[in-house]
Amino acid sequence: MTGGSRGIGAACCRLFARAGAAVAVHYGRRRETADSLVRDLDRPAAGEHLCLGADLAAADEIEALFERLEGEWGSLDCLVNNAGFWVRNPIAELDDEALESTWRINLRGVFLCGRRALPLLEGSADGNIINISSTAGQRGEAFYSPYAASKGAIIALTKSWSTELAPAIRVNSVAPGWVDTEMCIEPFADGGREAIEATIPLGRVASAEDIAGSVVFLASPLARHITGEILNVNGGSVLTG
Ligand SMILES: NC(=O)c1ccc[n+]([C@@H]2O[C@H](COP(=O)([O-])OP(=O)(O)OC[C@H]3O[C@@H](n4cnc5c(N)ncnc54)[C@H](OP(=O)(O)O)[C@@H]3O)[C@@H](O)[C@H]2O)c1
Repeated sequence: MTGGSRGIGAACCRLFARAGAAVAVHYGRRRETADSLVRDLDRPAAGEHLCLGADLAAADEIEALFERLEGEWGSLDCLVNNAGFWVRNPIAELDDEALESTWRINLRGVFLCGRRALPLLEGSADGNIINISSTAGQRGEAFYSPYAASKGAIIALTKSWSTELAPAIRVNSVAPGWVDTEMCIEPFADGGREAIEATIPLGRVASAEDIAGSVVFLASPLARHITGEILNVNGGSVLTG
């Protein structure tokens, strides 16, 4: 689980562990938060949880992470590419550094993790990849076009990989709308949350747990005939916002 230290990733880790899975919790900067999450997870039915750090903007750190995972577990049932970076970057004053970080973390990191995970997933009876995209990747997001473009690309790569890697590996995406995590502290401040909720057909922003349910479903045998799917979990906002 990339970006397992907090937010959506942490909720997914908790739910996977509750379902009996051993979870490899990846973190970027928050090692202590990730360590404490791992200590609190339900014990796996077999094996042990892991806690692995890597800056996903750095290819050598991704390689080191997977070498450790390979050494500890040898195989993997599911890779969740969840870690992400959301920063305002209007096109008229495009910040090159933020553009580069968005590309490296949100997109290149997904490609590198996906490629490196393949030999581990091939050892599983139902190996699968779940990429976290966004409503932004479907309808765009004003002032956040680098982010929206990275998420649109994740949708395209999910569909591409799903047929390329079939029948051995399923590949799906969960596309959240607004979710109650640290990523949204600023837009939710000063009445922002209420204004946003007024635009969502189901009337509220998602909790991280709302997203985790869909991720664990797609990873499970219940979804064994689902591949190439972009599962919208946004209270209907992709249709109206
Ligand atoms: N929140 C929303 O409304 C929303 C909506 C649509 C889609 N999404 C997507 O859902 C995913 C999770 O979002 P969230 O809301 O849970 O975000 P969040 O609370 O901001 O957490 C981001 C996670 O990504 C990790 N991360 C960020 N940059 C990294 C880097 N360079 N290297 C390694 N790890 C890095 C962080 O690790 P550390 O904390 O350890 O550094 C953290 O675990 C993202 O892909 C996001 O784009 C979120």
